[in-house]
Amino acid sequence: MAKKILKITGIVIAAAFIIIQFIPVNRDNPPVVNNVNWDSPETKAMFYRACADCHSNETKWPWYSYITPVSWRVADHVKDGRKHFNISASDMGESHEAGEEVEKGYMPLSDYLIMHSEAKLTPEEKSKFIAGLNKTFPPKERRGKKEQTGESEHEKGEY
Ligand code: HEC
Repeated sequence: MAKKILKITGIVIAAAFIIIQFIPVNRDNPPVVNNVNWDSPETKAMFYRACADCHSNETKWPWYSYITPVSWRVADHVKDGRKHFNISASDMGESHEAGEEVEKGYMPLSDYLIMHSEAKLTPEEKSKFIAGLNKTFPPKERRGKKEQTGESEHEKGEY
């Protein structure tokens, strides 16, 4: 009896896994309509190593982004990433926070680093990258409201 239940459960799980593969996932790369004025080719190269998959329309969709339910998580990160900051869009969004996000270690997302070892920056690369980002995407005045309120969104450790 227990064996039979186990077998049926296995079949149901396998069937569900197969069925969810047919749910469409948006993996679009819309046209690039913006040209970034990079301060240096190194900054651009590091951005493409560590950030562009989620913050441009030039996403390289990895093989696992074709396997549901992992695909949902990947597509969600890209969608959300582009919504906040997209170098391919005429309005780049929160680009002025790029240097700060790297400096504070919020970006790239830790999830991403598990599958993308090339996105790991050495401490030396990181400090050059931060300087490059701050030149390319100048930060707004830092003593704004955000600093005082302590910017809680990230600290929940959700990403
Ligand atoms: C795996 C996808 C992913 C990668 C890679 C990634 N980001 Fe993000 N990024 C996100 C998501 C999702 C958000 C929106 C949610 C949030 O703020 O945590 C975001 C938000 C941002 C924001 C907006 C700030 C804010 O508070 O919302 C900036 C700026 C940013 N990222 C910069 C970067 C930079 C620079 C890199 C490369 C070092 C990078 N990101 C790499 C997914 C990513």
